[in-house]
Amino acid sequence: MNKSIHDIIFTDKPASVLEEKLLGLQPSRVAVLVDENTKKHCLPFIEKALPHDHVLIEIESGERHKNLNTCIEIWKALTNQAFDRKGVMVNLGGGVIGDMGGFCAATYKRGIRFINMPTTLLAQVDASIGGKLGIDFDGFKNHIGMFREPDSVIISTIFMDTLIDREIRSGFAEVVKHALISDSMHFEDISRNLWHKQNWHEVVPHSVTIKENVVIQDPQEQGLRKTLNFGHTIGHAIETHYLNHADNPLLHGEAIAMGMIAETLLSSKKCGLSQDESQSAISYLMDNFPLERIPEKFFDAIINLTIQDKKNRNGKVLSTLLQKIGQCAFDIELSKEELYWAINEYNRKISAK
Ligand SMILES: NC(=O)c1ccc[n+]([C@@H]2O[C@H](COP(=O)([O-])OP(=O)(O)OC[C@H]3O[C@@H](n4cnc5c(N)ncnc54)[C@H](O)[C@@H]3O)[C@@H](O)[C@H]2O)c1
Ligand SMILES: [Zn+2]
Repeated sequence: MNKSIHDIIFTDKPASVLEEKLLGLQPSRVAVLVDENTKKHCLPFIEKALPHDHVLIEIESGERHKNLNTCIEIWKALTNQAFDRKGVMVNLGGGVIGDMGGFCAATYKRGIRFINMPTTLLAQVDASIGGKLGIDFDGFKNHIGMFREPDSVIISTIFMDTLIDREIRSGFAEVVKHALISDSMHFEDISRNLWHKQNWHEVVPHSVTIKENVVIQDPQEQGLRKTLNFGHTIGHAIETHYLNHADNPLLHGEAIAMGMIAETLLSSKKCGLSQDESQSAISYLMDNFPLERIPEKFFDAIINLTIQDKKNRNGKVLSTLLQKIGQCAFDIELSKEELYWAINEYNRKISAK
């Protein structure tokens, strides 16, 4: 039984909840992982819950630092403080801190307990749920990692007050994805407003529940969990390509929004998604996200990256496509020609706007 569903707490008082959780865990020591932004904006909200002798580990923010070198910094900081196996690590930050802090905790001395306190919308509705931990390696995203659940996830929308719009919008892509793959009513609800007018107190818990319901049925991604990859076959490849080649890398959700448009187009072509539903999904995505035209010279590289996707089997590109809004099919094979068509068609759609 996956225990995570009992351990996700929504609160406006993150310090009180953290204090209570730490009391329950009785750690020998507490370490808190932050970056410069979460140290400034989020740590003050929880400081009073931390024991005086806590170890504060600060790393530099950004996907660029989600790598083995930063893990070494984190493991060294724990080692220098003689942090033992009864210690608890609190990961206070976005998906980078959650994925990498969890990975470091899960490997330090064969694993110490950890609590995730996601502070971005993306981390709240997606990265902190479902136990995927890891780091980027050799140009590949999340290439090294594992599955392991945190002891608790403490979610508070108060952290969102200091998030820049671009980050909120990026997280909103995963909210839209959750609705498109499994909850047409939720899609109807959110699509009444643009991203900045959403009621996060309702939207965040709802979106978390959608992901949690999927993960609980398939924690190791043998089947159903693959539905969460909608938009990610092409989106992830775009993200990786821009991370390695562009001056201004795209945020995860920005790339996923682009991927969702391309994969919605493929859904109509291959999975019977009606033109009406395709149009309503695509126009909502176009209204909410800054969408880049993909230069033709990038097509081959992006298509080659889709082949590297961890979700593939036997060299075939497998994707999740919509049958209707709120219902999807996974393990749908895509040929190079179909991928090419989808990216080209995506460009056509967004330039017609
Ligand atoms: N494990 C999973 O299942 C899963 C799912 C989706 C994404 N991810 C991963 O999540 C990462 C992206 O996460 P992200 O979008 O949260 O990025 P991020 O962790 O880089 O955070 C984005 C930026 O916001 C800053 N920030 C964080 N909280 C803040 C706050 N409350 N106020 C002001 N600034 C704040 C950070 O310092 C950073 O500069 C990627 O590495 C992706 O691979 C993991
Ligand atoms: Zn994602």
